[in-house]
Amino acid sequence: MAKVIALVGSKGGSGKSTAAHLLGHGCGSLVHPIPCVVLTTDPEEQPLTDPRRYRVADARRKEQLLELMKRFLDVDRLLIVLDGAAARPELDALVADVADVALLPFRAAAQDAERAAANLARLPSAIALPMGWPKHPGVAKRARKWLDMVPEKRRLAPLPHMPRLDGLFSPEGYAAATYEISSPARGLALEVLARGGIDAAELEVRG
Ligand SMILES: Nc1ncnc2c1ncn2[C@@H]1O[C@H](COP(=O)(O)OP(=O)(O)OP(=O)(O)O)[C@@H](O)[C@H]1O
Ligand SMILES: [Mg+2]
Repeated sequence: MAKVIALVGSKGGSGKSTAAHLLGHGCGSLVHPIPCVVLTTDPEEQPLTDPRRYRVADARRKEQLLELMKRFLDVDRLLIVLDGAAARPELDALVADVADVALLPFRAAAQDAERAAANLARLPSAIALPMGWPKHPGVAKRARKWLDMVPEKRRLAPLPHMPRLDGLFSPEGYAAATYEISSPARGLALEVLARGGIDAAELEVRG
């Protein structure tokens, strides 16, 4: 059976789509790649169709989402990444519950951290992912208090700010950023799999 990572949390630029596609790229960039499909569920987002190290599928309509989940869950070696369950708030808690890992990204800002803390309380199985964290010492010091608003046990290591990440959403940008983002993408994929107790060897294709 396939494994499922769900990007959950409020709508509005917390980094769900970025993390979803970075995970896909990371899985496809491993020495022994893991087949991965990102399901776009946000009606406002256009599913990407350019060739990538992972697949993207259109799950913007509820029937499409259910149909694809039914089909993909039966695949033995596959990681399903659900991007944007938050587009349907009524599904958010359900999706978080059935996923092997529910990731809740948040940006380095007071309001984002507050919202993440509230969502973590609402979604007991979710793990927060600090997105686009500042590296500059001065700014990083300020961002520390936002990080501390989320319990350490319930968050992954912050993903640094990477200027090229917007490239994930266009064919040209993806091609230009492919190599630069592969290493952090692999790191994120492995960390998330480990957090979900998912053995990469059981998903990867060898030979
Ligand atoms: N690590 C990062 N480095 C640089 N920029 C980042 C990083 N993470 C997220 N961003 C930026 O944050 C913005 C919002 O991210 P994204 O579109 O992934 O959010 P979202 O949660 O999917 O939003 P929505 O709820 O509207 O679907 C994007 O411009 C993205 O490039
Ligand atoms: Mg999105």
